Amino acid sequence: MSNNIQSVRGMNDCLPDVSDTWQGFEAIVRDWLRRYGYREIRTPILEHTGLFKRAIGEVTDIVEKEMYTFVDELNGESLTLRPEGTASSVRAVIQHNLLYDGGKRLWYTGPMFRHERPQKGRYRQFHQVGVEALGFVGPDVDAELIVMCADLWRELGIAPTLQLNTLGDHESRQRHRQKLIAYYASHQDVLDEDAKRRLHSNPLRILDSKNPAMQALNDAAPKLMDELEDEALAHFDGVQTLLRANGIAFEINPRLVRGLDYYNRTVFEWVTDQLGAQGTVCAGGRYDGLVEQLGGKPAPAAGFAMGIERLLALVEAGGRTIATPTPDAYIVHAGDAAQAFAWQVAGSLRSIGIAAVLHCGGGSFKSQMKKADASRARYAVIIGDDEAAAQQVTLKPLREAGEQTRVEVARAIQFIQEASTQKA
Ligand code: HAM
Repeated sequence: MSNNIQSVRGMNDCLPDVSDTWQGFEAIVRDWLRRYGYREIRTPILEHTGLFKRAIGEVTDIVEKEMYTFVDELNGESLTLRPEGTASSVRAVIQHNLLYDGGKRLWYTGPMFRHERPQKGRYRQFHQVGVEALGFVGPDVDAELIVMCADLWRELGIAPTLQLNTLGDHESRQRHRQKLIAYYASHQDVLDEDAKRRLHSNPLRILDSKNPAMQALNDAAPKLMDELEDEALAHFDGVQTLLRANGIAFEINPRLVRGLDYYNRTVFEWVTDQLGAQGTVCAGGRYDGLVEQLGGKPAPAAGFAMGIERLLALVEAGGRTIATPTPDAYIVHAGDAAQAFAWQVAGSLRSIGIAAVLHCGGGSFKSQMKKADASRARYAVIIGDDEAAAQQVTLKPLREAGEQTRVEVARAIQFIQEASTQKA
C-alpha cells in the first residue's frame, strides 16, 4: 500500500494526451457557439449555498445529497461548489442587469461538482458546456437550442437520440400535482421509502423512480399532458413544427421530468445506449420562472448543458478521433554553435506561428531523433556545427517518406510553413 496522496475519488486528472483531445473539442465548440451568436460568461466555482437551494429545489437529489457544501470558517457563510451552471448564470444576469436591453445568448464551460457514486460516465468533478438563452419567449428559441445541438453532433460524428416533453406551466402543474398526490396517497401500500418522503414535497419526482416495483403504478398515474393549457400546448406544437422543418427526429417521452425543479414547458434529453447506464449526454429545457424566483424582473429563459466526459466517450465509442495539435517541427542540435543557431531558428519559426519544439537536455543525435519522433512533429530540423557555420539546416520529414535535405534556413521555414498551412 502506497501512502502517496491520490486524487479525490470521482475527480480525474486530465493528462496531456487527453487534454489534447479536450482542446480539439473545445475549439470545435467555441466555433460552433460563435456561429450561433452565443457569448461566453464566466462565473465563480463557489456560490452561496442558498442560490442552489432556491434554483434547483430543496427536494432534489442534487440539493438533498450531492452538493459539496461547507462553512467558510473565516466568516461563517455556507458556500457550495457549483453542481451546475444555470443557477450561477441567472444570478450573474440579475446581479449585472444584463437583460436591460433585451435577450442574451450565453454559454459557459468548466467543472461542476456532485457527490454522486462514481462509475463510468459519472464523476464527482465533471465538466459541462452549457448554453443559456435568456429573455426569449417563443418556441423558436427552444427549437434553435435543439437544432444547434444536432449541428454539433454532426460535426463530432455522433448520433444521440432526442427525447422531448413538455412540463406545462405553473397552474397545470399545480393541478397535476394535486391529482398525483391524491393518486399516490390512495396507493400507499406500493410506495417505496423515497416515494413516501416525496409524496407531498415533490410527487412529480416519484414518476422518475427507477424502482421496478413502482413501474406499474407510475404507468397508470395521472398524466400532465391531460392538464396542459392551450398556450402550453401551442408552444409545444411550435417546437415540434420547427424541429420537423429542420429534419430533427425526436421521441416524445411523457415520463421525462428532469432532476432539477426550475423547468417548465419544453424539456429534452439527448441519450445514447452506447455508454451503459450513464446515457444522457446533454439535457435542458425552458425555465421561465427562475429569473423572477431569484429576484430578477420576470424573464423567460431556456438552455441546456452537455457532459464533456460522456460526449467524448461517445465520440470514442464511434471510433472517431478529434484532431489534436502536434508540433510542426522538432529541432535537434549538437554543439555550441549549433545550439545558439537552433535557438534562433526556433524563434524565427515561432514568430510566424509555427509550433516548434526545441530539444532540451543534450544527448546524441540518435537519442534526440527518437524524442523528435515521439513528439509526433511533422519535421525534424537538424542542426550541427556544420549547418550552423553555413547558416543552413537539415530537414527530415518524420510523418511521410522522403529524404532528408540540407537547405537554407529561409527555405526550410518556408517549407514547414507551407506544410503547416496545408495541415490546417
Ligand atoms: P443535468 O441534466 O443535471 O442538467 O446535467 C447536464 C448533463 O451533465 C448531463 O446530461 C450529463 O451529460 C452531465 N452530467 C451530469 N452529472 C454528471 C456526472 N456526475 N458525471 C458526468 N456527467 C454528468 C443541468 O446541469 C442543467 N443546468 C442543464 C440546463 C442548462 N438546463 C437549462 N440550462
